Amino acid sequence: MKKITYLIIVVAATMIVACGGGDGQSRKDKILAKSVKDPYQNWQEYKGVGPIKDLTLPEQVDAQLASKGLEIFDSKCTACHKAEKKFIGPAPKDILSRRNPEWIMNMILAPEKMVAEDPIAKKLLVEFNGSPMANQNLTEEEARAVLEYFRTL
Ligand code: HEC
Repeated sequence: MKKITYLIIVVAATMIVACGGGDGQSRKDKILAKSVKDPYQNWQEYKGVGPIKDLTLPEQVDAQLASKGLEIFDSKCTACHKAEKKFIGPAPKDILSRRNPEWIMNMILAPEKMVAEDPIAKKLLVEFNGSPMANQNLTEEEARAVLEYFRTL
């Protein structure tokens, strides 16, 4: 009788191990999927596509430039963006902890190109159900002022 109990345990254990092994393919797929880079996670590698190639921000925020940026933001962006809350588009609060300054400028100045070619912008477009970021025809100086305003959020 003991032998039978032992046998049942061995068979049951073998089945459990075998079933676990049957999952091997999908586990492998999961590992492979993880090795594909997520552009959100690797945002520091992306400067975007558009007119801005290199932009280093000074350590100090320029308050005057930022207040000019606030005015521009209020008149041209608030139809779709709220400073601190997701709206039709994302909230710009803390944006510099997830996007490069060049990327932000290019997104403001050349959103059509960004959405077509930049991996982060492509992912954003999907996340926001295909509603695209609008080109508000800002000049480079205006976009730079808005970016300075974003630094104050
Ligand atoms: C008609 C609506 C609309 C207007 C107006 C608009 N945006 Fe957007 N914006 C969006 C949407 C939707 C997204 C996200 C989807 C996408 O990128 O395609 C977005 C994305 C962004 C992003 C990227 C945010 C992130 O978290 O990566 C920035 C930066 C941005 N907008 C800045 C601006 C600025 C600055 C203005 C004003 C000059 C502006 N937007 C005006 C709709 C708009």
